[in-house]
Amino acid sequence: MHPGSSKSRISRKAGSFTESVIREMSREAVKHQAVNLGQGFPDWAAPEDIKQKAIEAIAADHNQYAVTWGVKEFRDAIARKTMWYLGLDIDPESEITVTCGSTEGMIAAMLATVDPLDEVVVFEPFYENYAPDAILSDATPRHVPLYRTENGFVFDREQLRAAFNERTKAIIICNPNNPTGKVFTRDEMEFIADLCKEFDALCFTDEIYEHIIYDIDENDPLSHICMANLPGMRERTVVVNSLSKTYSVTGWRVGYCIAPPDITSAIRKVHDFLTVGAANALQHAGAYAMGLPPSYYSELQHEYQRKRDLLVPALRNAGFKCDTPEGAYYVMADISAFGFADDVQFTKNLIQNIGVAVVPGSSFYRDPAMGSQIVRFCFCKKDETLEAAIERLSKLTAG
Ligand SMILES: Cc1ncc(COP(=O)(O)O)c(C=O)c1O
Repeated sequence: MHPGSSKSRISRKAGSFTESVIREMSREAVKHQAVNLGQGFPDWAAPEDIKQKAIEAIAADHNQYAVTWGVKEFRDAIARKTMWYLGLDIDPESEITVTCGSTEGMIAAMLATVDPLDEVVVFEPFYENYAPDAILSDATPRHVPLYRTENGFVFDREQLRAAFNERTKAIIICNPNNPTGKVFTRDEMEFIADLCKEFDALCFTDEIYEHIIYDIDENDPLSHICMANLPGMRERTVVVNSLSKTYSVTGWRVGYCIAPPDITSAIRKVHDFLTVGAANALQHAGAYAMGLPPSYYSELQHEYQRKRDLLVPALRNAGFKCDTPEGAYYVMADISAFGFADDVQFTKNLIQNIGVAVVPGSSFYRDPAMGSQIVRFCFCKKDETLEAAIERLSKLTAG
């Protein structure tokens, strides 16, 4: 630093959030050779046919910049799949932006729509990226708690209504929800939609777990309710989605936003100057993946349901209190039986002495105290990985 200078080398924004706890736990897991049930990525091979399409796309020389808002073939495939799965008729020319994962999709959507002093309503606990997303986009977050009850996680309607006002620009929902495993009911979504319409607010809906919903009605492929499908919501919803979870390719970094044309134009500009575009060849493979038959999605759903039903009872046996998730592949587990001062100490002990990595619950709350007796397990892992973790967890003793 220049002698005598009092300039901060770090921006106010970058200084106001911490490194990702989830990614830190993955590094700790490697260091201590712990079984990693922390970060939500599958530990099995990505589907052979999808990988083959990526290899072919590279060989066919799809190696230069793609159209900044996405390869046409991929956008067309997204539109067709969205029509099939959600019944939404999307124009690939004006309503889709391909991004570097849904991570970029969410921040690009927020940067494209939010101004300083605008408020964004966020349910708490929240997926940890939404907090830095709010800071980076100058949004003022308004948190609304999701309470754990006998019927899963619910919000208080009066509290949600009280969080909306004339400065509310948007609400972020994650449905199915990380970290709680909640799937919002139609009634809850209609309540949220009515507030958005009353206060002229947008809805950013993170739907990367749209195919990971449990105990569904096999005869109703539309059992996932997309906010954009509710009356009057299509024109005020940004759907953020990605290949990561549905096709087990979290490292490809290919996602997309679906939004009305005016918002899409703004997202495309932000996206262009943030990243120029997502990997060209991988978008070609994505076009293939989006055309997979319905059986691919029902197998995925069954496989995750089987894994949920393997891990959740085992956690209860080991002394954790936890609900059965309705969707996504995470379970929030109460650790109070083990007598640790907080979730971070518990997690350190679990990684170093028991050999299982999880995510401390506090990373999903503004106030660490609220998550201090919770950790999050994920179950997007091979059976042998889950069994190894279950075996190790049996060494835990209640305090
Ligand atoms: C709710 C949620 N949104 C977004 C992401 C990141 O997704 P992507 O790989 O598409 O950037 C994750 C990853 O775990 C997530 O759980």
